[in-house]
Amino acid sequence: MADLNVITHDILIVGAGLAGTWAAMSAGENGVKDIGVLSKVHPLRSHSSAAQGGIAAALNNVRPVEGTGPRGPLEQIPPGDDPIDSPDLHMFDTIKGSDWLGDQGAIEIMVNEAPEIVYQYERMGCVFSRTPDGRIAQRRFGGHSVPRANYAADYTGHVLLHTIHEQAVRNGVKFYAEWYCLDLLVEDNVCRGVVALDITTGELYLIRAKAVFFGTGGYGRAWKITSNATANTGDGVAIAYNAGVPLMDMEFVQFHPTGVYGKGILMSEACRGEGGYLRNVNGDRFMENYAPDKMELAPRDLVSRSEQTEIEQGRGVGADGEGIYLDMTHLGAEKIMERLPQVRELALNFAGVDIIDAPAPIQPTAHYSMGGIPVNANGQVISDAEGTPVVGFYAAGECACISVHGANRLGTNSLLGASVFGRRSGKAMAAFVLSGAALQPVDEGAVKKNRQCISTLMDDSSINGKKESPAAIAEELKTAMTRYAGVFRDEERLTLACEKVQELTDRFKNARIMDKSRRFNTDLLGAIETEHLLTFSKVIVNSGLARTESRGAHYRTDYPKRDDEDWLKHTMAHKDSNGEPELSYKDVDIDWDRYPPQERKY
Ligand code: FUM
Repeated sequence: MADLNVITHDILIVGAGLAGTWAAMSAGENGVKDIGVLSKVHPLRSHSSAAQGGIAAALNNVRPVEGTGPRGPLEQIPPGDDPIDSPDLHMFDTIKGSDWLGDQGAIEIMVNEAPEIVYQYERMGCVFSRTPDGRIAQRRFGGHSVPRANYAADYTGHVLLHTIHEQAVRNGVKFYAEWYCLDLLVEDNVCRGVVALDITTGELYLIRAKAVFFGTGGYGRAWKITSNATANTGDGVAIAYNAGVPLMDMEFVQFHPTGVYGKGILMSEACRGEGGYLRNVNGDRFMENYAPDKMELAPRDLVSRSEQTEIEQGRGVGADGEGIYLDMTHLGAEKIMERLPQVRELALNFAGVDIIDAPAPIQPTAHYSMGGIPVNANGQVISDAEGTPVVGFYAAGECACISVHGANRLGTNSLLGASVFGRRSGKAMAAFVLSGAALQPVDEGAVKKNRQCISTLMDDSSINGKKESPAAIAEELKTAMTRYAGVFRDEERLTLACEKVQELTDRFKNARIMDKSRRFNTDLLGAIETEHLLTFSKVIVNSGLARTESRGAHYRTDYPKRDDEDWLKHTMAHKDSNGEPELSYKDVDIDWDRYPPQERKY
């Protein structure tokens, strides 16, 4: 490998959000010293930091306790008829939220480890908001029966990520900031490393590792209106799929009810958790027609559908009628400034509205990918319905499908899932490495192949034939996904989506980039990301077309009912030899005695 740049690590982690950083930390704490973390952005700009409202754990901190705390009388948070919280109740809410597609064994692990991991954050110095007696503050979130979102104002993801990143640095984890993973090397179902691009120099590297972990985030950038950062182009998901790993439940994409109108930027569910209302153009709190019990705090799939129904029936707001009002004017300046300062700033900057005085226009926004790389509860990637492991390959966080979120994730369970399963993956990788795992031989052709792909994109010798702009292709894709694979779907729309994705995939073969430079070539990165968007979008729309039922976030107007007889199963998609998704199915892990499927009502 004379002319190759080669790096080796015991463990290589791709993605520096909560899942990746926890995996690194935990592998280190469990005895592995040689750990590298690759991130396409500065690690602290990873998208975990954009999560605002909280991290779920049944701490029961809002129940009144007697006496006076160090900061005054103890807070009596209403209403008094909330049930006492417990991991069991958290488990039930999560299963119900998932529309019974969540794997119950994995959910049980997540909710049981939740209180301990939140206290671990606290011990590491995380600056949570506090109750007057000094306990971690909790608020309500959609689909949760009790206040269980542990929060730091509306910067929760930001403070969690900073806390864990500091610890990883302190523990000697090596970060490669602004490195882009191009390819995953899997042969004979054994993972051997990755090919990566140092964005700052344009150099390609072969990175060999005994274990590789993906915490590469979600894929919301395939839609026009999205809360996702520009980096969320589903790279890890597409790279794994191209390497022969299946993708699971890709049709389940969450639309968050409150993105800034026309922009999609997140306005936290905490706005409604703190008491905010949703109103249509007539000023009506329309949720009473859709979820009279939970109202604005119904789960996201239901609230987004209710908003979209109001919009489609002509009761929307804004120039194109595609908006809804989020009204917090009754909360008062003090509460807003204390608990929702970031949301206020976002609304001021991106909607020109001060939420203290006026309702903010919002609309459903692509937010979270329930599907992804199939893994077990130790983060071990699996290659089929029987759970055969891809040796040496692990994943957690939004790019992975464990599946704890099933067909619809509850807010605040993402920071929790990324933390718990990142930590568990780190421990499992440490055990794997310390049990004697070795670096596996790699085919140097992999680097050459990636170099060739880049040269082909940059090459304009056939300038007349190669005229497609990747940016234009990405725009057309986003428009099509928004129109045809959004909050409401049906056979006609999904068929159009499949055709459009195919057309764009064909056109991408003639894509070329204009910037020929090596350093920070964002034109090149944009092209590669566009190819990733096309790759996984094909899986989403084909999986969605095949699933002829409505469950959680996948709502088919032509099949409006959940169909447990035929569809209580996970979708698995493998890339076939023609590059098409080949679908098969996997059983859902259900505890039939405790939590059998029920009708889902709010
Ligand atoms: O609305 C929010 O604050 C987002 C949280 C989440 O997606 O878990």
